Amino acid sequence: MTTTTASPAWQALQAHSETIRKLHLRDLFAQDPERFERLSVRLGDLLLDYSKHRVTTETMELLLDLARFADVERWRDKMFSGEKINSTENRAVLHVALRNRSGKPIVVDGRDVMPGVEGVLGRMRDFSERVRSGAWRGATGEAITDIVNIGIGGSDLGPLMVCEALKPYQRPDLRPHFVSNVDAAHLTHTISRLDPARTLFIVASKTFTTQETMTNAASARAWLTDALGEDAVAKHFVAVSTNAAEVARFGIDTANMFEFWDWVGGRYSLWSAIGLPIVLAVGFERFLELLEGAHAMDEHFQTAPLDQNLPVIMGLLGVWYRNFLGASTVALIPYDQHLSRFAAYFQQGDMESNGKFVRRDGTRVDYATGPIIWGEPGTNGQHAFFQLLHQGTELIPADFMAAAQSQTPMRDHHDKLLANFLAQTEALAFGKTEAEARSELEKKGLSGEALAALLPHKIFEGNRPTTSILYERLTPHRLGSLIALYEHKIFVQGIVWGINSFDQWGVELGKELASRILPELDGDEPITTHDSSTNGLINHFKHLRRG
Ligand code: F6P
Repeated sequence: MTTTTASPAWQALQAHSETIRKLHLRDLFAQDPERFERLSVRLGDLLLDYSKHRVTTETMELLLDLARFADVERWRDKMFSGEKINSTENRAVLHVALRNRSGKPIVVDGRDVMPGVEGVLGRMRDFSERVRSGAWRGATGEAITDIVNIGIGGSDLGPLMVCEALKPYQRPDLRPHFVSNVDAAHLTHTISRLDPARTLFIVASKTFTTQETMTNAASARAWLTDALGEDAVAKHFVAVSTNAAEVARFGIDTANMFEFWDWVGGRYSLWSAIGLPIVLAVGFERFLELLEGAHAMDEHFQTAPLDQNLPVIMGLLGVWYRNFLGASTVALIPYDQHLSRFAAYFQQGDMESNGKFVRRDGTRVDYATGPIIWGEPGTNGQHAFFQLLHQGTELIPADFMAAAQSQTPMRDHHDKLLANFLAQTEALAFGKTEAEARSELEKKGLSGEALAALLPHKIFEGNRPTTSILYERLTPHRLGSLIALYEHKIFVQGIVWGINSFDQWGVELGKELASRILPELDGDEPITTHDSSTNGLINHFKHLRRG
């Protein structure tokens, strides 16, 4: 047994889960008229309602004991103070420094990182103002109208998600585009609509060695220089990276490079220069508001008592379902079209962070770790996968989020959106009993065998847990705080599970094998160096490729 599963807190939760499994949310609400007040927390205009979860106040107390056992607060403080908690890479974990608006220093290896952070922010402000005002001109003297970010994973998903979310703050004459996939279709379709003379490429890569990004960047460069000549690169390419040597080798002047640091994890990097497309799209002031929103959540995470602490509560609820009620996935369902990429963003954020079977000390876990994260915006999801949420055999805790005020009001759309947001969590929690379903069918005139045949299909068991997050408006500030909330939720879970949430060794093997296979795809000779399946696939591919 690991120290985690042997702990009194874990054992108590295990025993307690037997009781909770037998309880229905219908009963929990009926027994306690104050349940909503008791199991919801407010932070400014943001309301986190977790009363529709299969928990009691005792469950929450036991979960808090587990958080204390895991030393969540001490680890949180280690992160914020710049300790090298990413032990396998010997790195600090300081995305919080990128949005540190407190004026206080944060020290790594004896040096305050804040002057560097402020310096890069200043360069991002100056550059974005030049581009947005039209002072920055392309090689032929034209102003820039299209920004193409070339990056993947953390160098793509964050800026893409935020640019989508902050669309109402964008100008129609400066459009962000994102190319990530090495499938040429992505770059081709993106640039086919663009004028090279008005296009600015941002090559975004922490390492500046990622195959997909370097391939896309080289092809984009060829597209540009074919049209405008070699000298145009200086006016149409900038880089965001920690690797100045590789940026220079690629042919981008390091004067056009925006730096960040090894203590910024890729999937936590949108607050760094990786956020440059955001700054260009919505302006520096809005970007600062995004940072301020995240900083406000950082302060809440650092100072709120554990039982009022939003990331702690959300993290522990996740642990409860994953480890004690057997849920293997979590759905993120924003009732906001602007958050259409939120789940995709946190798929990397969560799964790359907590998808690990080895603990910090190198031993294997004897419990489940990171869940599968997925989701789509409501109401679209209702017409796609909600059937399974309501009547399937999987337990799928879901986070619902919505803004009370629309950024794009039109007639009664927003009330309809919110009516669905509210109805779905109610339906999932309370369902429809056999008696209710029977009486409805009877009212429709059914009886006897016809009624009996239809009845089982009309029952909703309910007891399906959801979190509701409701806030006034999806401003940059609110968005920043929402993202930071989920980042810290992931952190809390990683600490409870005793894993390092900040490395990602699991992505390496596939990359290594792809580099080995790539040269084998040259020529027509049959390949025999792998297992029979991989050999068979490679050889069939070569056969089909010949046409
Ligand atoms: O998928 C692995 C990964 O290393 C991610 O962690 C990272 O966000 C992505 O690749 C891109 O890496 P880079 O920014 O170095 O190109």
